Amino acid sequence: MSAHLPPIHHAADDSPAALYLSHHLPDAASTEAFGAALAPAVTCEEACKQARGLVIWLSGDLGAGKTTVTRGLLRALGHSGNVKSPTYTLLEPYTVSRISLYHFDFYRFNHPDEFLDAGLDEYFADGGICLVEWADKALPHVPQSDLQLSLAVEGSGRRVELRVFSERGRACLTHTSLKTDASTRPT
Ligand SMILES: Nc1ncnc2c1ncn2[C@@H]1O[C@H](COP(=O)(O)OP(=O)(O)OP(=O)(O)O)[C@@H](O)[C@H]1O
Ligand SMILES: [Mg+2]
Repeated sequence: MSAHLPPIHHAADDSPAALYLSHHLPDAASTEAFGAALAPAVTCEEACKQARGLVIWLSGDLGAGKTTVTRGLLRALGHSGNVKSPTYTLLEPYTVSRISLYHFDFYRFNHPDEFLDAGLDEYFADGGICLVEWADKALPHVPQSDLQLSLAVEGSGRRVELRVFSERGRACLTHTSLKTDASTRPT
């Protein structure tokens, strides 16, 4: 059964995003493991040593597994506490492995200007890693992504697609064990 994946947002210059890989995730544990596999990408020098932190958008319907990916990533970085959905708080901030990680969820926005009203642009400018659920609800104010994960229900599990939107995003992925699957590249 093929999954219905959410629409893909394009980079500011409208260049097509490269599909890096497409995987089936049979259960929630494998979604967490996928998040954990991103840990070397968000702790590498390219991700952390610039004024603007790496930005990862997490796309997919309600319940697709976006927060589960974030939980797996945070656990792999050494966070042992709760990983709550930011649906009501807009932002859950973490400091772990000597990095700041900001987990956003804009699902409840009625208007994209709420992003500016809440002063959230400042978090994207302080060098922390930004993971964003429902980024499209904050367009055009939310900064463009370096990487995007799209999740969709597939059978009793999920399909995840990882796309690269910047050279920096691609450089960060080289630090992970995630290998691009040539058969998933767009023709
Ligand atoms: N690969 C998978 N197979 C089956 N269930 C999964 C899988 N990955 C995650 N789940 C389950 O899906 C449910 C929803 O996950 P999660 O809260 O991460 O979704 P979400 O995309 O963040 O949703 P929302 O948009 O409401 O924030 C959880 O019960 C989680 O355990
Ligand atoms: Mg969520």
